[in-house]
Amino acid sequence: MKRALGVCYYPEHWPEDRWPDDATRMAQAGISWVRIGEFAWSRMEPAPDRLEWDWLDRAIATLGAAGLKVVLGTPTATPPRWMLDRHPDMLAVDAQGRPRKFGSRRHYCFSHLGYREESRRITRLMAERYGANPHVAAWQTDNEYSCHDTTLSYSDAARRGFRDWLAQKYQSPAALNRAWGNVFWSMEYADWAEIDPPNLTVTDPNHAHGLDYRRYASDMVVAFNRVQVDEIRRHSAAPIAHNYMFRVTDFDHFKVGADLDIASWDSYPLGFLSDRTEVDDSFKRDFLRQGHPDNQAFHHDLYRAVGRGRWWIMEQQPGPVNWAPWNAAPLPGMCRLWAWEAFAHGAEVVSYFRWRQAPFAQEQMHAGLLRPDSAPAPALAEVAQVARELAQMPKAGTARADIGLVFDYESAWAWTVQPQGRDFDYFRLAFAAYRACRRAGLNVDIIPPDCADLSHWPLVLAPGLMTLSPPLRAALAAYQGRALIGPRSDTKTPDLSIPVPLGPNIPGLDVTISLAESLPPIAAEPLARGGRFLSWFEHLEGAAPVLERTVGGRPAIMGGAHLRYLAGWPDDPTFDRILRGMAAEAGLTTHDLPEGLRLRDSATHRFVFNYAPDPQVWQGVTIAPAGVHWQPL
Ligand code: GAL
Repeated sequence: MKRALGVCYYPEHWPEDRWPDDATRMAQAGISWVRIGEFAWSRMEPAPDRLEWDWLDRAIATLGAAGLKVVLGTPTATPPRWMLDRHPDMLAVDAQGRPRKFGSRRHYCFSHLGYREESRRITRLMAERYGANPHVAAWQTDNEYSCHDTTLSYSDAARRGFRDWLAQKYQSPAALNRAWGNVFWSMEYADWAEIDPPNLTVTDPNHAHGLDYRRYASDMVVAFNRVQVDEIRRHSAAPIAHNYMFRVTDFDHFKVGADLDIASWDSYPLGFLSDRTEVDDSFKRDFLRQGHPDNQAFHHDLYRAVGRGRWWIMEQQPGPVNWAPWNAAPLPGMCRLWAWEAFAHGAEVVSYFRWRQAPFAQEQMHAGLLRPDSAPAPALAEVAQVARELAQMPKAGTARADIGLVFDYESAWAWTVQPQGRDFDYFRLAFAAYRACRRAGLNVDIIPPDCADLSHWPLVLAPGLMTLSPPLRAALAAYQGRALIGPRSDTKTPDLSIPVPLGPNIPGLDVTISLAESLPPIAAEPLARGGRFLSWFEHLEGAAPVLERTVGGRPAIMGGAHLRYLAGWPDDPTFDRILRGMAAEAGLTTHDLPEGLRLRDSATHRFVFNYAPDPQVWQGVTIAPAGVHWQPL
C-alpha cells in the first residue's frame, strides 16, 4: 500500500493568479492530494440555476497540471443564502424549538426532502461535469455530518419523516404502543399523526421513543449521504469518502460507511484535548502541545473499521486552531508524529487542513501550512520531512491487532437516552477499555456490533452493549479466545426494555444481572484483589464460577475460560490489572509504557511515539518529545 500526503485548499479564497504557485509549492513539499470544493456552492451557483463552473474547471486543471490528485467535495454543508428563499423551512430546529439560522454552516435539516433534492441536484451536476475528469481521483460527500450538533433536528420535516419511519417500522400504532410500553402514563397513540418528536415534554419522554428518534435521525444521515453516492457513482469510478469527526456518535457511522469506499476523519489533537477529553489540569498541562496519546489512535482504529480497511485523515491539525477554549501551538515535531501515527494505523493518506491561513472570516485564527502572507508556517517543513521519509520507507504493511473491541452506535444512543447515572457515557466506557489496551502496548481493532466471527482476535472486549446482535451473540457462543463482556452489556431488548429472562443471555455464560447501581464519584465499590469500580456496579448471580469479588463479597467477574462478565466500570489501574491478566492468559505480551509513550504495530514494523513533554527511553533508544521511532518486527 502506498502512503501519501494531502492538503485542503480553497481556490475560491485566493486570486486566480496565485493558484499555479500554490500548486507548485504543494508538489514541492511532497503533497500529492488536494481536497477542494466542499464549501464553494455560492461560487458554483451564485444565483438559483445560474451555474458557474469555469473557475472550478481552471482550478482543477491548474492543480492537476502540477501533478496533484484532486478530492472533490460536494458543497452541501454550506447551502447559499438564496436556498432559504426556495426552502424557507429547510433549517434544522433545536430541541427548544428554535431554528438554527443562516450565517455560518450546516444550516439544514437532514429530514427536509426539498433540500435533499437540492443536494442531489448539485451533486449530479458536479458528477456529470467532473466524473470523467482525469484529475478528480476521489470524492468527499458533504463535510463532517453532525458537526455543530446537527444530526438531531425537531423541525416540521423531521416530525413528518419520523411518523412515516415509525409507520414503516411498526405497521400499526398498536404495535408501536406495545413495543414502547405506552400503556405507562396513558401515552398510547391511536394514529401516527399524534406522534411528535420527543422534545419539550414535561419530564422524560418514553426512553424507547427517544431511542427510536435517534435511530430515525441516524437513518436520515444515511439517506442524505446515499443520494450523493448514487449520483457520483453514475458518472465516476473514483472512490468516495466522507470526513467523520472526533467522538461523534449521533449517527451510525458503520451504516454511512457501508455506502462509501473510504472512511476519513478530521484530526485536531490539541483542540480535542482542550475541550473534549476528561482529564485533569495537570494532564492537560503536560499534553497541551501534543494532545492525548490515545485520542487519535482510537479514531484511527474506529475509522479503519468503518472504512472496512480503507481510511484517511482528511484534515490534520497544522498549528493552533481557532475553535477550542484555548488554542496552543503544537510542540515542534507533532505535525510529523501525528502523521506517522496515522500511517502506523494503516492510513492511506494524511491531508492537512489547510494550505494557507485565511486572513478573513470565522477561521482567520486557524493555522495553515502557509501563513496568511504566504510564508511557510512551521508545519510545512514537517510535512516535507514526512514526505521524504515516506519516499524512503519500504512498504510498512497494514495495521494488525490482537484485541477486538466492539463499538456500537445504538448503545451510545441508548445510554444517552437512559444514562441511569449522571456520568454514564458509552463512548467514555469504550474509550476507557481502549486506553487500558494502549497503556499495555496492545494493538486494537475496533469491531462493528454485527460481527459474526471473532476467531481472528485472541482477546475481545465488549463493554456497554445495550443488546447483542444475533450474529455477535452466536459469535460469542462459538468463541474460543477470551472475551470480557460488560459492564452493562446485553441488559436490554432492542426496544430498550428489560429482557425476561434477565440479561445477559449469552449461551455458555450462566450469569444474570439481578440489579444495577450507578454510583456518584464520592462512592466506589472496592475490589478484593485491589482497585475499584466507579460509576456503575451490577449485582450478578448464576452458576458460572466467580473469578473475582468485591471487598463486600459480591461477584465482580464471573465466567469461565472463554466468556466472562465484568460487573462494574473499573478505574484505570483496575482495568490495567484485569486486562493484563487476560492478555497473559491469551499469550499476548504486554508492556509497562511510561505515560506518553505509545506503540503501534503494522504487519512489518513496530512504531514508537513519544507524546510526553520529556524524552523517554524505549528498549535502550531515547526518543525525544514528539519523537517517532520505528523498527522492523
Ligand atoms: C473541521 C472542518 C473544517 C474546519 C476545521 C477547523 O471541523 O471540517 O472545515 O472548520 O474543522 O479546525
